Amino acid sequence: MAPSTPRRIETGRLVTFTFEGQPVEGQVGESVAAALTAAGIRNLRDSVVSGAPRGIYCMMGACFDCLVQIDGIPNRLACMTEVREGLEVRRQAGAAEVTL
Ligand code: FES
Repeated sequence: MAPSTPRRIETGRLVTFTFEGQPVEGQVGESVAAALTAAGIRNLRDSVVSGAPRGIYCMMGACFDCLVQIDGIPNRLACMTEVREGLEVRRQAGAAEVTL
């Protein structure tokens, strides 16, 4: 039987960042994706193709399902970004603008 709440190893060293403007606690050394999962946040963006909600899948930078906007920069992989104090993370809706 699967646990009803996400579990993680507690290090006791916490940082606070925001997701969609709401404060979320993460632990030093874990990824943004891991911290969001532990907080029960699973919906990180909308599919470019269908608009369906997407979330964390591979946790190793291969699937690109966890694309989010971090500190105003789109197309960041939540699973490959270490959580830091004060990060501003937002959902990504559809394709992000790319400036050249
Ligand atoms: S969860 Fe697959 S790239 Fe991040």
